[in-house]
Amino acid sequence: MAWKRVVSMKALEVAGGSFAARVDNEVVFIAKSGNNLYAMDAVCSHAKCILGKYDAEKNQVQCFCHKAVFDVKTGRMLEPPFVAPNAMMDKMGKKTFAVRENEGFIEVDLEQSGN
Ligand code: FES
Repeated sequence: MAWKRVVSMKALEVAGGSFAARVDNEVVFIAKSGNNLYAMDAVCSHAKCILGKYDAEKNQVQCFCHKAVFDVKTGRMLEPPFVAPNAMMDKMGKKTFAVRENEGFIEVDLEQSGN
């Protein structure tokens, strides 16, 4: 286990509940829904844009570029990019990572899955 401190809980709140940040060689999308924290690979599997527009009620993030939608908890692609409606969504999911709050900061462990 290698927990990495990413951002303060206060900064996440100010950012509106979601945030993308570089952690080592990954760009990680972090989101808070109620008391739950989620972390997933923030690079869209379609054309590598950075996710996105977070919907806390549905716990989904939408890619800004072509509107693909991902489940933040599982990393599954839920809706394909509008420019590739026949995309193989079952093969386009993203990695999730373990995430926790520790002393007012959000930490992720890139070696552990969030599922
Ligand atoms: S890059 Fe994300 S939907 Fe196209």
